[in-house]
Amino acid sequence: MLIIRLYFILFCQEVLYVFGWGSVGHSLVARLAQSQLNSTTNHWLDNYIPSNLPDDLSLIASWPDIILYLDSNPFDYNDWQWSRELHFINTPDWNCTYISTRDCLNNRCIEGALKNYSQRLIDNNCDYIQQQEALFFLVHFVGDVHQPLHCGFKGDFGGNSVKGLFLNGTNETNLHTIWDVEIITNHINQHFQSDINLYYNYLESLMLNQSLNINETYDNYKLWIDESVNYVCKQVYFDDNNIKINGSLNFTLGYDYFNRNWPLVDQRLAQGGRRLGSLLNQLAKSRSSTKLPPDVQALIIVLCIEFIIGIIAVIGVYRYKRPINPETQPLLS
Ligand SMILES: *[C@@H]1O[C@H](CO)[C@@H](O)[C@H](O)[C@H]1NC(C)=O
Ligand SMILES: *[C@@H]1O[C@H](CO)[C@@H](O)[C@H](O)[C@H]1NC(C)=O
Ligand SMILES: *[C@@H]1O[C@H](CO)[C@@H](O)[C@H](O)[C@H]1NC(C)=O
Ligand SMILES: *[C@@H]1O[C@H](CO)[C@@H](O)[C@H](O)[C@H]1NC(C)=O
Ligand SMILES: *[C@@H]1O[C@H](CO)[C@@H](O)[C@H](O)[C@H]1NC(C)=O
Repeated sequence: MLIIRLYFILFCQEVLYVFGWGSVGHSLVARLAQSQLNSTTNHWLDNYIPSNLPDDLSLIASWPDIILYLDSNPFDYNDWQWSRELHFINTPDWNCTYISTRDCLNNRCIEGALKNYSQRLIDNNCDYIQQQEALFFLVHFVGDVHQPLHCGFKGDFGGNSVKGLFLNGTNETNLHTIWDVEIITNHINQHFQSDINLYYNYLESLMLNQSLNINETYDNYKLWIDESVNYVCKQVYFDDNNIKINGSLNFTLGYDYFNRNWPLVDQRLAQGGRRLGSLLNQLAKSRSSTKLPPDVQALIIVLCIEFIIGIIAVIGVYRYKRPINPETQPLLS
């Protein structure tokens, strides 16, 4: 168990360096969220970012994807396969409603995971490593749930098996990847001079302009899913000519599709960022204590021991000196 935990810490530190910013969408949501955190929340969460990394949530935002694959996690990707189903929900094809008793059996879905990890992050019965894992999952899943195809159809695995060509690409892609990556990449390249920071600034302004829904609470996970399910049925599966995509045939999606959908991608990234920020601020208020990283705990123990030794030494010196220092005796005795 200790070895597994140590591995987790090393893994965070080493692998995150190799993968840098990870997937663009997740890093943007995390960065937007972090811009919304108050200083108490920021301080609390910094504690969970490995100490050799900058205190930047976007660096850990893709960790739950990285651990799943042989390429990125050759040593124990198998041990994380249980978490795969927590990245999404699927509804029956064209059903267009999410029903948790049907679509989220035993809470093994993104709604269950959002509840689980937001609770574990502030649960005093969870240790530091468990809370750290909870934070990494939470940052990622709030991003995922806002990508409409993470709330897609069961029959085509959320668009993963719907194949075709996108824009001027000559390589086959799939609908899910178009929404995970390709709309964002093309949008940044074509409208933001290939500069992710320009895109970020624009999203931040969009986020700050978004009016808050007065009835919205910080943890309305079901609402976030319902919105995505709705976009899937009303928008995602309609091609350039507004004709329903037939998943058994290869699609060719061009600029009409791209131009109709990048505004929705912008909106979902901004919403994800705003909601993740307010969720984390809220959790910071609800927590009752802060767990410290194992190395800091060890340091504190060492400092305490040194402090006690110091006190004993001072007392010893004082007791030894007292008889030969009569002037330290009370003058008024
Ligand atoms: C809750 O989190 C724990 C720890 O990661 C995990 O073992 C469990 O499968 C999670 N359950 C759900 C429903 O996400
Ligand atoms: C298309 O696929 C080939 C073979 O996998 C790859 O070498 C090439 O880089 C891809 N092209 C693009 C534009 O992604
Ligand atoms: C946000 O609102 C301001 C003021 O109305 C406007 O100038 C700006 O373009 C808006 N930003 C976005 C991204 O819509
Ligand atoms: C807020 O809730 C009230 C009462 O449930 C409802 O009448 C109103 O339409 C809701 N407003 C929004 C913006 O959803
Ligand atoms: C989709 O394409 C398949 C294969 O050509 C065809 O059998 C099926 O009827 C089509 N479905 C719809 C809804 O058009």
